[in-house]
Amino acid sequence: MHSIMEQIQTKRILLGLTGGIAAYKGAELTRLLVNQGIQIQVVMTEAACHFITPTTMQALSGKPVFTSQWGEHTADHMAHISLSRATDAIIIAPATADFIAKLAHGLADDLLSTLCLARNCPLLVAPAMNRQMWESPATQRNIRQLVADGVTILGPVNGTQACGEEGMGRMQEPTELAHTVLTFLKPKSLSGVKFLLTAGPTYEAIDPVRGITNRSSGKMGYAIAQAALELGAEVTLISGPTALSSPHGAALVNVTSAAEMFEAVQKHVADADIFIAVAAVADYHVAQPREQKIKKSSGGLTLELLPNPDILGYVSGLPKPPFCVGFAAESHNLHEYAATKRKIKKIPLLAANLVQQAIGANDNELILFDDAGEHVLPRADKLTVARALLQHIVNLYRQGE
Ligand code: CTP
Repeated sequence: MHSIMEQIQTKRILLGLTGGIAAYKGAELTRLLVNQGIQIQVVMTEAACHFITPTTMQALSGKPVFTSQWGEHTADHMAHISLSRATDAIIIAPATADFIAKLAHGLADDLLSTLCLARNCPLLVAPAMNRQMWESPATQRNIRQLVADGVTILGPVNGTQACGEEGMGRMQEPTELAHTVLTFLKPKSLSGVKFLLTAGPTYEAIDPVRGITNRSSGKMGYAIAQAALELGAEVTLISGPTALSSPHGAALVNVTSAAEMFEAVQKHVADADIFIAVAAVADYHVAQPREQKIKKSSGGLTLELLPNPDILGYVSGLPKPPFCVGFAAESHNLHEYAATKRKIKKIPLLAANLVQQAIGANDNELILFDDAGEHVLPRADKLTVARALLQHIVNLYRQGE
């Protein structure tokens, strides 16, 4: 449980203003949040100062406003570190197309972009721009990148724009942004709950350049990790090779083979309250991987394969197992195989999907199997499905507490 002190500390927000006409709404947002007892630290880009003055923001927030990496407020010029550590979330409102592009590419050429890069807390971004700028392929690409990086995008909304045009690109209203921030700061339902997840494929070496692997992008496992983090859980993510970046706040353990994944799980499982095995673990490894590259010859090649440890089976068989959730990707007979797999693995919940529909895709549909029967989580993007799955897991987990 969080102590009262920790709950008070969760009410600190760093509000970043960038240079758009909606910067004046940042003033209203500050007032609304300060009225709710939230401490606001304002940081403005140089461009933002052309739209609203730091003096206004200082008067509303009751704190000196930072506008430069080289400001007078910190003696050691480490404002980007101290500011990003002294807050529980950063919200950029308004976020211009330019600032979004900088975030997406990890640029750090002023205080606000640098502290965003240096942060170890959630980042919320409220875009505000002309509709053409919003719809441009570059901005859309940058937004997709931010979502993939675990950034929460708030809006924009449709409506009349400062330039007189009509369309998508208006910043969400301050009342709506304030509501989102307050919800975000509420004590989290999974505070103190420890999740251990496996995700992605494993890779079993044949020789230095070849190996056996399973098709898995890791997207579903990473989305579940992110959904758990959003609810305040502590997440350890043991991942096989993927092209994904770790969700912010997760403790990522990179592994390659099933044996390494098994070892990492054994190391971390004692702490776990909930174990979710999303990884597509290779069922076999090569008995004797060659140290040197195998040269082709005219004849065939026979490889001896030995079974890998069943990681989920091991965890569910522990004397005091965490709440275990398994995954099954089936190509056919999904209902029959999944229900049987849940019994064999002795786990309370198994989530199944059809491989044809899931692998590498950005969306997914899951069928959950538990003691009560089957539940369908309808097709949606993987983060939405992950959030719904997590709700189901939490309900079952709480019943058993
Ligand atoms: N799993 C695991 N360790 C393994 C194999 C699988 O932890 N060595 C986990 C997966 O992460 C998944 C579940 O077990 O949560 C189901 O895996 P799957 O490979 O589909 O099941 P198997 O028992 O291997 O059955 P089959 O290959 O016959 O479908």
